[in-house]
Amino acid sequence: MSIIGQGIDRTDGRLKVTGAAIFTAEHALPRMAHAVLVLSTVPKGRVAAIDTAQAAAMRGVLLVMTHLNAPRLPTPKPPGPDEQPPNPKLSLLQDDAVLYNAQPLAVVVADTLEHAQDAARRLRIRYVHAAGAAELDFERAGKAPRKPKEQPGRPSDTSRGNLAGGIARAAVKVDQRYGTPLENHNPLEPHATIASWDGDELTLYDATQNVSGVRTTAARTFGMAPEKVRVICPYVGGGFGCKGAAWSHVMLAAMSARQAGCPVKLVLERSQMFALVGARPITRQQMLLAASAAGKLHAQRHDTISSTSFLDDFSEPCGAMTRMMYSSDSLQTSQRLATLNLGVPTYMRAPGEASGSFALESAMDELAVALKLDPIALRLQNYAEQDPEKQLPWSLKSLRECYRLGAERFGWSRRTPAPRSMRQGRMLVGWGMATATYPANRMPAMASAAILADGSALVRSGSHELGTGTYTVMTQIAADAMGLQLGQVRFELGDTAMPRAPVSGGSMTVASVGPAVQEAARAVRDKVLALAIDDPASPLHGAAPADTELVQGWLQLRSAPTRREPVAALVARHGAPIQADSRAAPGDEKKRFSMHSFGAVFVEVQVDPELGTIRVPRVTGVYDVGRLINRKTGHSQLVGGIVWGLGMALLEKTEMDWRDGRAVNGNLADYHVPVNADLGAVDVMVLDGHDPHINALGARGIGEVGIVGVAAAVANAVYHATGKRVRELPITLDKLL
Ligand code: MOS
Repeated sequence: MSIIGQGIDRTDGRLKVTGAAIFTAEHALPRMAHAVLVLSTVPKGRVAAIDTAQAAAMRGVLLVMTHLNAPRLPTPKPPGPDEQPPNPKLSLLQDDAVLYNAQPLAVVVADTLEHAQDAARRLRIRYVHAAGAAELDFERAGKAPRKPKEQPGRPSDTSRGNLAGGIARAAVKVDQRYGTPLENHNPLEPHATIASWDGDELTLYDATQNVSGVRTTAARTFGMAPEKVRVICPYVGGGFGCKGAAWSHVMLAAMSARQAGCPVKLVLERSQMFALVGARPITRQQMLLAASAAGKLHAQRHDTISSTSFLDDFSEPCGAMTRMMYSSDSLQTSQRLATLNLGVPTYMRAPGEASGSFALESAMDELAVALKLDPIALRLQNYAEQDPEKQLPWSLKSLRECYRLGAERFGWSRRTPAPRSMRQGRMLVGWGMATATYPANRMPAMASAAILADGSALVRSGSHELGTGTYTVMTQIAADAMGLQLGQVRFELGDTAMPRAPVSGGSMTVASVGPAVQEAARAVRDKVLALAIDDPASPLHGAAPADTELVQGWLQLRSAPTRREPVAALVARHGAPIQADSRAAPGDEKKRFSMHSFGAVFVEVQVDPELGTIRVPRVTGVYDVGRLINRKTGHSQLVGGIVWGLGMALLEKTEMDWRDGRAVNGNLADYHVPVNADLGAVDVMVLDGHDPHINALGARGIGEVGIVGVAAAVANAVYHATGKRVRELPITLDKLL
């Protein structure tokens, strides 16, 4: 039985529970000093003066770096054709401009963290205020929205069919505005960087989803050859998108380490993570659905405005799911930006789909209500047999099965459609559902594999462990491809000195790195078998290649499995490890197929009719993700996505003081995410599947799809329970009273 698909325990589990897994901030280098950032307290203006004298004279202080003494950085070269898209513009103390509140204005470096924190508080900063002129009103900025910079392959506007005709022909219309708030990523592990220079070579220990991207950004920022930068990150305590790019603090750590002449550690405080390292932007989405009396969609229009920063464009692609989800006669989507004096937003789990699905799947529910149709029946009525946007067949789409099995597991047939018609005791009960999808993407990745003298294997790729199970699944893939036992394979990641892997974002790690690991493992297995055939001392000597195999660490003949020896014996005679490299890349399959994961999510809410409090006793999610590599870690990922979706639905919102653009709930006591006490039963099922087109593994990746649709399913359940339609997240009790 294949190791792939089984619920294997995490290979790094013991290291994590015993504290032996070393996270970025825990690395200790000789002579290491500690850096603290000093942030702006106004949203817009100029620094008139910074008095650093008192801080610089304090005990233990090694450096106070401001825009007045920071090294001048070269103007970065634009990225080459096959380089990653540029990172957001960073705040690197190159001038006196303030463009958002909590922008870095100084770095204080001292021998201890306490000395650095103490000195950081003694900086006196005077501003030339422009606070009145700061744009911090989303509604106002949204009245004069900007078109985002066009990105190749990601148009901001799309249309197909005759929208006006479709609307005119329709019997029923839903045309509503939906909103999602500013949200911040809150991984347990804060962002952290340790920077160390050795002559002109830079080593960065960094909490990142992209070691090679951090290397590229550092090299570009400092005008260095990428080979002179090494980035190390064996463990990440959660990323979710905020650790996808190298933000200002990474470069500021490197700049201050060079200036201070010693290694520098810089760890962001929780409150700093609400301004400096991205956010899920505010969205306002106008969604129009127009259908025949039987529920056939004649027209869909989805217009999104999302917030961005004066530093850079970031557009939340809310229309992405609407464009591909349902078959309709006509469609029009647009993306616009409202520019504010805030830090740059960024990708946050299921960027586009998480926010966009709230509007689309709420509107589908409203349409079902208007048509007196079951919400699943409406979705089946408009089921897209091929991708309606790309006009391509799906690589594999088992969404019908997701609806059917999800409904069955949840007991959907017992739902009575009228709002307020189901009760348990004095509580109003509501059942809602929604569709989930996320595109399957893949990027080139490299790996190396070696079988060592003791018969064990060492497999490497410069990928990332975000807590999601990369160590474990890559060990499974390598052991399976090599014919070794799981315990004979060691997988290493998180270092630019290893073969290059892409960003661990966009649900791409398994789909991209998995095939590279599989190919390297197969190549090394084939080399070992060829050596055995050539080796007069081997029991496989002279055998036909097709008759040889490596099974559980034994080299043996298929026709006579008792003629065998441990692979270690062969490697020992060979006198050196046997090694192979691979590079795996997508081909032209995306030109021939549209690749998406799918799911159906069902939610029960119980609402207190007097207090408006909402509890979620149970959720069922059924997913089509191609092949699942590890039942246990995969299940955990999807549960995590659903839990986050419940947070998005009911709790999460960065509360800004809109007078000055600073988060007032920038801590984990006031910024609410679900905890165990908030959760009921979360039932996740993954269909047995194999996507024949994404890669040889058949695996699409599962990082994002779990959150998609959850907020809409909750909103739909709340409507069913109460008769109140909430179109603005989060659904707090005040909106129900
Ligand atoms: Mo993710 S938002 O692609 O890290």
